[in-house]
Amino acid sequence: MKNTKLLIAGVFLTVALPFGAILLSSQAQLGELGRASVGEGEPLFPSRVPGLAVQGRDVYISVGCIACHTQQVRPAGQGSDIARGYGARPSVARDYVLQPQVLLGDRRLGPDLANYGARAKDLSSVHVSIKHKGEFAFLYSGDAERANALAAYLLSLRQDYSSPEAKLKK
Ligand code: HEC
Repeated sequence: MKNTKLLIAGVFLTVALPFGAILLSSQAQLGELGRASVGEGEPLFPSRVPGLAVQGRDVYISVGCIACHTQQVRPAGQGSDIARGYGARPSVARDYVLQPQVLLGDRRLGPDLANYGARAKDLSSVHVSIKHKGEFAFLYSGDAERANALAAYLLSLRQDYSSPEAKLKK
């Protein structure tokens, strides 16, 4: 074979060029990104939720609240969530890091609940909301254990802290 060298060089370049291009293009796109830093005194992660709220999340899942409620605030250019008061800033991945089940939801018949805890007026108004028009009155049977857990869960839903990816406007 006369062209062995040429063949080997061709094979080498076929592999090396795309491989190098992948490396270089990723470096060009992401290489400049440093580690996200938070301001002094700002929480790095959302806070943990109390035990009653964890029980409430199970109620939320079991009775199907997710069928009508989302928990994700979209950024300003992608819907009117912020204008509607669903949140003070868009939701980011960091908001969900401590949640074993992320209940984003994909249908929104009622308001988004991602930041509900920050806008709820008081506990009795939370219970009025839970009952809706009476459809969820069954949660109050007996000692209203499920409704109380659900209220604690709803009040724990807050995205009102600054995050490196989505700062709150001061
Ligand atoms: C069939 C659809 C549907 C289901 C299921 C549903 N909701 Fe709602 N929810 C709504 C609608 C619609 C509203 C708005 C009602 C209004 O403003 O009068 C609402 C309002 C609320 C509000 C008040 C939100 C705000 O911003 O004031 C809360 C809290 C709430 N729902 C929690 C729940 C919980 C908890 C469950 C599960 C137990 C649930 N919802 C199940 C439709 C639903």
